[in-house]
Amino acid sequence: MPHLKVKPFDTTILDELCKKDDMFIYRAVESKGYRELLYVDSGKNRFLLDIFKRENDYLIKSEATTRVLDIEEIKKVMKHLQDSVSLEVINSNISLSERKPPIPSKYKKSIEDFEQFDTPYKKIAVEVGFGSGRHLLYQAEKERDRLHIGIEIHTPSAQQLLKQIHLRGLDNIWVVNYDARLLMEMLPSNSCEAIFVHFPVPWDKKPHRRVISAPFVKESMRVLKQGGILELRTDSENYYQYALEVFGSFEKISFKVEKNRDIEVVSKYEARWRNQNKNIYNLTVESENIDDDIDRDFDFSFQKSINCKDMYDIPSKSILYDGYFVHFGKRFIRSDNEGCLIECSFGSFDRPETKFIEISKDSMKYMPFAPIRNKTAYKAHKKIKELLNV
Ligand SMILES: C[S@@+](CC[C@H](N)C(=O)[O-])C[C@H]1O[C@@H](n2cnc3c(N)ncnc32)[C@H](O)[C@@H]1O
Repeated sequence: MPHLKVKPFDTTILDELCKKDDMFIYRAVESKGYRELLYVDSGKNRFLLDIFKRENDYLIKSEATTRVLDIEEIKKVMKHLQDSVSLEVINSNISLSERKPPIPSKYKKSIEDFEQFDTPYKKIAVEVGFGSGRHLLYQAEKERDRLHIGIEIHTPSAQQLLKQIHLRGLDNIWVVNYDARLLMEMLPSNSCEAIFVHFPVPWDKKPHRRVISAPFVKESMRVLKQGGILELRTDSENYYQYALEVFGSFEKISFKVEKNRDIEVVSKYEARWRNQNKNIYNLTVESENIDDDIDRDFDFSFQKSINCKDMYDIPSKSILYDGYFVHFGKRFIRSDNEGCLIECSFGSFDRPETKFIEISKDSMKYMPFAPIRNKTAYKAHKKIKELLNV
């Protein structure tokens, strides 16, 4: 990830920069801590840069929840920042590559692109956690008339895949850098012919982080066309047993189990386990039903705003409700006194979302964009409004 390690500097010089440079909108300072945020509008995207004020150096990098996929874009913004306020660089990895053409945005999809799901492709497949992307690229090359939606939570893997798509001249892949457990809810019912989940992280110590869960299977069945398949491959005995239990908990689902079944392309990950002679389990579920469309007509706006000085009274401890939680995290006050930002995580326990709530004198909104439109997030949103008294 691009970063800039610089000698400590007086960050108030950024306020002047925000006044005269359209790329930088405002600076916000953590109320009790050493972090500052710089709100960036690159022309293509809006995101935050994080400035960690450490004793001997300041570390600048893109803030995780608002991070964009295009590394070159982040580097350009950081380089512009470095030059504009003459930062003294200790080390960095933001040199721009002249030879690298920008990756066309048509491959990168954000959550907002799924609000009005629209594609000319009649056939769609989804791959969850594609890692190095070997299986996804193979599938996309083989099935040119199918759209392949790759969902990967790890940003560098998503960036690597984007490069590969470009190099291979493929145009039937969309890359989404998000939690697949949430993104599935944005896909239309009965739209996909396959969902691949190959070698998900077993999370033996934190099972709530697993991709496969009863809600995920239910969502997959909704998204799959009648006759479409959900395919899980795992080398983990433990995960296999767990998946059997999850799939088995559905009365109407029948699934097929195969051991050490060969597939046409072996990912780097799978190759490693094969070399160690580990068993590979394949679980396939076929969707038998035609499902109704789901209601996603939820309004995540705020009608009123709060006074920033009241943000310190908002509880910091996670608050648990029936099936969901709300947690208000760090608070940042804008140096121009025009508003503040509150980090907020919420939603179901196994599929939480983290956003900033951006507060100005007369408005309040989630950034970088509204939560995934589902019932649990909406319940959490209503609770957030209640807790903020708006
Ligand atoms: C063990 S790797 C397997 C990668 C690839 N499928 C393969 O077979 O080589 C698991 C991948 O799933 C991704 N992942 C984990 N949880 C995820 C989630 N909730 N949504 C999307 N991707 C996820 C990880 O970042 C990682 O790249």
